[in-house]
Amino acid sequence: MHEKRIPALSRRQFLQVAGGTAVALSLPGVLTACRRQEAGPLKIGVLLPYSGIYAVLGESITQGMQLYFDALGNEVAGRPIELITADTEINPDVAQQKVRRLVEQDEVAFVTGIVSSGVLAGLRDYFHDNQVLCLCSNAGSNAHSRAAKTPYIWRTSFTNWMAPHAMGTWAAENVGRTAVISVPDYAAGENNVTSFTHSFTAAGGEVVAVQRTPFPNMGDPAPFMAELAATGAELIYAFYSGSAAVTFVKAYHDFGLGQQIPLTGAGFIVEEDVLPEQGEAAQGVKSTLFWSYVLDNPQNAQFKTDFHAFTNRDADVFAVQGYDTARVIDEMLQRTEGDTAVDQLIAALDGITFDSPRGPFRLDAHSQAPEHNMYARDVQPVDGTLRNVILENLGPIVDPGDDSMG
Ligand code: BEZ
Repeated sequence: MHEKRIPALSRRQFLQVAGGTAVALSLPGVLTACRRQEAGPLKIGVLLPYSGIYAVLGESITQGMQLYFDALGNEVAGRPIELITADTEINPDVAQQKVRRLVEQDEVAFVTGIVSSGVLAGLRDYFHDNQVLCLCSNAGSNAHSRAAKTPYIWRTSFTNWMAPHAMGTWAAENVGRTAVISVPDYAAGENNVTSFTHSFTAAGGEVVAVQRTPFPNMGDPAPFMAELAATGAELIYAFYSGSAAVTFVKAYHDFGLGQQIPLTGAGFIVEEDVLPEQGEAAQGVKSTLFWSYVLDNPQNAQFKTDFHAFTNRDADVFAVQGYDTARVIDEMLQRTEGDTAVDQLIAALDGITFDSPRGPFRLDAHSQAPEHNMYARDVQPVDGTLRNVILENLGPIVDPGDDSMG
């Protein structure tokens, strides 16, 4: 088998890290004219966490994008692609400095990335006021497909309504009728509380308590585990990702809770980025997500093989999101024939449809986020490796675009 690795030199050339701080006053309209790049290399700003609890997410999204563009010879619509990355940590103030540098100094055509909903909230007005297109490849905050929607922010990932909405119904029907929710205390956690509560209650369940843990760092998980054990609920629903998911799932197991109360969650809690470190502590955790490593379709099979050859590690859902983001960029620029005038880019996004490793993918113009399938999953050993085995394909889901369903 041909194994392709990223040569250090070409990777360095391909990725230019935008560090440090740069502050310049921005004038709406003036910036738009500066960013329009009709010919020559096309610069794309990539705002991701490369440090902190979501660092692995940032790395996977980057590698997924690199993989897709690499297969195109790093050229889209006849124009060489240059990704300029910047570390946002999980800090809206740092992200503000980095976006200004990317847009106002590096003059990127548009921006992608952003993992934390808190960071997206902090940048929303910058994108809107300065008419900068952001193709968000993770942060799922519901508000940005609803009350805080702007034509300049589109999600290529998901909204935070999706996984808990699907799990609320599925858990009430398959796991139990009383639940405790545990989430980190920030916007994405709150979205999970609202969405899970809405569909779980509608399916006949009752949420008896909500636990909010410090974000980004939970600290000692012991008091939170003791609190969960004391509730007597029939199940726990949790939203955690990155290293916080490792901390939570391991503590849940170490405190013996896995034997007492079934753990369910948004799929990030036991995704491929954290499963190897969680080990047997994750076994039996049920989750809902729009992808699984074992999802059986030709695009996923090819993607997993290519990603492993490119990075020498297994793919995870964040790599899929990076890969799909690059695909959306490719489709968008083909439609504009490489022109990056922001109005043209936005018009080109409406209805982009393709077969993704996650299954059918369609960009929905109402919610400015994808329509895709949701899957109910269970962590089980597959050929000696823990994977999220698919229990059920729950079918296509699209954000309602308002708060009517949680
Ligand atoms: C969010 O902040 O929206 C988020 C972060 C990690 C995984 C999923 C969602």
